[in-house]
Amino acid sequence: MFIESFKVESPNVKYTDSEIQSVYNYETTELVHENRNGKYQWIVKPKTVKYEFVTNTNVPKLGVMLVGWGGNNGSTLTGGVIANREGISWATKDKIQQANYFGSLTQASAIRVGSFNGEEIYAPFKSLLPLVNPEDIVFGGWDISDMNLADAMARAKVFDIDLQKQLRPYMESMVPLPGIYDPDFIAANQGDRANNVIKGTKKEQVQQIIKDIKEFKEVNKVDRVVVLWTANTERYSNMVVGLNDTMENLLASLDRNESEISPSTLYAIACVMENVPFINGSPQNTFVPGLIDLAIQRNSLIGGDDFKSGQTKMKSVLVDFLVGAGIKPTSIASYNHLGNNDGMNLSAPQTFRSKEISKSNVVDDMVNSNAILYEPGEHPDHVVVIKYVPYVGDSKRAMDEYTSEIFMGGKNTIVMHNTCEDSLLAAPIILDLVLLAELSTRIQFKAEGEGKFHSFHPVAAILSYLTKAPLVPPGTPVVNALSKQRAMLENIMRACIGLAPENNMILEYK
Ligand code: NAI
Repeated sequence: MFIESFKVESPNVKYTDSEIQSVYNYETTELVHENRNGKYQWIVKPKTVKYEFVTNTNVPKLGVMLVGWGGNNGSTLTGGVIANREGISWATKDKIQQANYFGSLTQASAIRVGSFNGEEIYAPFKSLLPLVNPEDIVFGGWDISDMNLADAMARAKVFDIDLQKQLRPYMESMVPLPGIYDPDFIAANQGDRANNVIKGTKKEQVQQIIKDIKEFKEVNKVDRVVVLWTANTERYSNMVVGLNDTMENLLASLDRNESEISPSTLYAIACVMENVPFINGSPQNTFVPGLIDLAIQRNSLIGGDDFKSGQTKMKSVLVDFLVGAGIKPTSIASYNHLGNNDGMNLSAPQTFRSKEISKSNVVDDMVNSNAILYEPGEHPDHVVVIKYVPYVGDSKRAMDEYTSEIFMGGKNTIVMHNTCEDSLLAAPIILDLVLLAELSTRIQFKAEGEGKFHSFHPVAAILSYLTKAPLVPPGTPVVNALSKQRAMLENIMRACIGLAPENNMILEYK
């Protein structure tokens, strides 16, 4: 059975007009490696830590500013949300299609609430905590191309033509603000597009972005803004001691107009300065150590990197399944070809390299979790190839071959072929990222013994489910396995309303 909403009744949970307060017992373990009777042993001690959570339930009016607004993802997300808001339906060759949010964790997935009269009860994921309604979001942003969003949607060739015709009147007047352009950081083939750029020194460019955010807030009367990079993949910027290794050095480099500060890092600096959450949906190292340092010092949310939409999402499920089943993946070969502007940009070796890095570390935590299968330091062969094939447009092809060792030296090969519009996968993920980033800024918590409530660490590991190369606070383990990432997010939200993690034991029926 499916229910739309529910309320928790518990001595540990209090709903007020503006808050949900919960007391939550975090069941965890403490490990010690001790010499007992002359022999070293691992001792595991179950431990309960009491946490208090406070969630502000006043949902703000949210503005979302996309860097690369006129790209395939930006125009697809904007059009998709308008279509939902306006209740648009359109004719395809198969049927009359209604707008929906399929592919969005927050809008289209469910959680298990419990069982009732022997039946499992589910509710929308978004019923856990109050989230911004996507249809209330005001969209805006920057692009180095001045094309309005209606034309950008046509250029993207993602939506059916009947839908495009209906969306056009809503999108024609939406024109991106000029963006920060530095041809050194993206492929040379993007040069023709760059007719809408901010002039001046890097510092002046940062100041312009700050001004843009302030004006956007004022004009649209929004309470909060979240900025998300869905612009072209940049090359990695060099990490240099004295240049971008600390907050002080990064800001001093900005003053000196150092060439090695990338446009994405400039947008991120502006956002952190303004305490506006900034999410990076592309693979490049926008978050150089100096920027992470700056975000921590100013307690301003940053999250990334690189949307986890298709091939990598599959990988973080399949390898988790294989290794979890005691099967040893030994070679993973992933081929992609795509024909959209992202593909064209990735055809340059430096930008491809950023993608290759972000796609390659995704199996590490799973491989490292099982020393029965892998010797220390041993790793499956893992190759990623991306080719630009203009004809297929946004309809990306991903082909994967997984070879594993099975029982008694046997070999097992799994081959997958995945075809679909890349932007239709990415747009709902962008929506989830901004909604969850906004939500996480409304949650405060403290562990027993901690004096004051505080927010989550500014490096938002809570968004990991949605990103290929999760950015986590320094010294924190990276989790790539998709089911663990989803459980982390859901269980933290459950803790905020005093519910235990979903443990799947179903003991009441055993
Ligand atoms: P796109 O090339 O269609 O859009 C990018 C837009 O950014 C373009 O309109 C371009 O003019 C603009 N742009 C470039 N540099 C800019 C700057 N410095 N400031 C402002 N605007 C700038 O690409 P698409 O397909 O929308 O993808 C966007 C990004 O998302 C790419 O980096 C891609 O690798 C990444 N991504 C996409 C996924 C997907 O499934 N679509 C999955 C994972 C990541």
